[in-house]
Amino acid sequence: MLIAGNWKMFKGPAEAAAFCRELRATELPADVEVVVCPPFVSLSEAVQTLAGTEIGVFAQNCHWERDGAFTGEVSAPMLRELGVYGTIVGHSERRQYFGETDETVAKRARTALAEGLHVIACVGETGADRDAGETSEVLRRQTAVLEHDENLVVAYEPVWAIGTGKTATPAMADEAHELIKSVLDVPVLYGGSVKPDNAAELLGQGAVDGALVGGASLDVDSFAAICLAASPS
Ligand code: PGA
Repeated sequence: MLIAGNWKMFKGPAEAAAFCRELRATELPADVEVVVCPPFVSLSEAVQTLAGTEIGVFAQNCHWERDGAFTGEVSAPMLRELGVYGTIVGHSERRQYFGETDETVAKRARTALAEGLHVIACVGETGADRDAGETSEVLRRQTAVLEHDENLVVAYEPVWAIGTGKTATPAMADEAHELIKSVLDVPVLYGGSVKPDNAAELLGQGAVDGALVGGASLDVDSFAAICLAASPS
């Protein structure tokens, strides 16, 4: 099981360091892989504060070129130099607000993996896709551009469930995960309003290998509670 906390555009360096100090003092289950994904400016603090622990630090995005004239972007070698372990790519907020496409997501994933980063690649249908009966087609299309890699995991995040308090039913999540795995045989995380009180049920589904947690990862107690819910022991 992998539980990743996607902080989005929250927690500058000081807050990130305070969170990580508290997290490293918190008892977390040994059989759950725990990852935090701070904004770029807070990565260094997170890496330093969590040094010597099993908690991984991931970025939220990463460019497909190693360097170049790409104002505002950050590359995989730069993240590696900082001690960052992996990166999210293709989050629906990047697709929705920053013009990310299946092709750019695939390129970002490919380079990050080639440079030695672990990758969480996000896929998920919008509410309109689901209403139109196009969920399977969208998930297939978004997943098919990715290439299998032992350091790649996919996060299934139904866009209508992100930050809304609505979650896919455990059965819906399981079905979507099975479909994604039939296209690409990698672990699949569920994301979209995962909270301490619904985590155990969602994570109990056979095809759910962990969670990508947004809002509930911003507080140490609720994040730790979700990590505990992921532990079968
Ligand atoms: P949420 O976000 O848990 O706040 O719904 C999940 C995500 O966007 O990764």
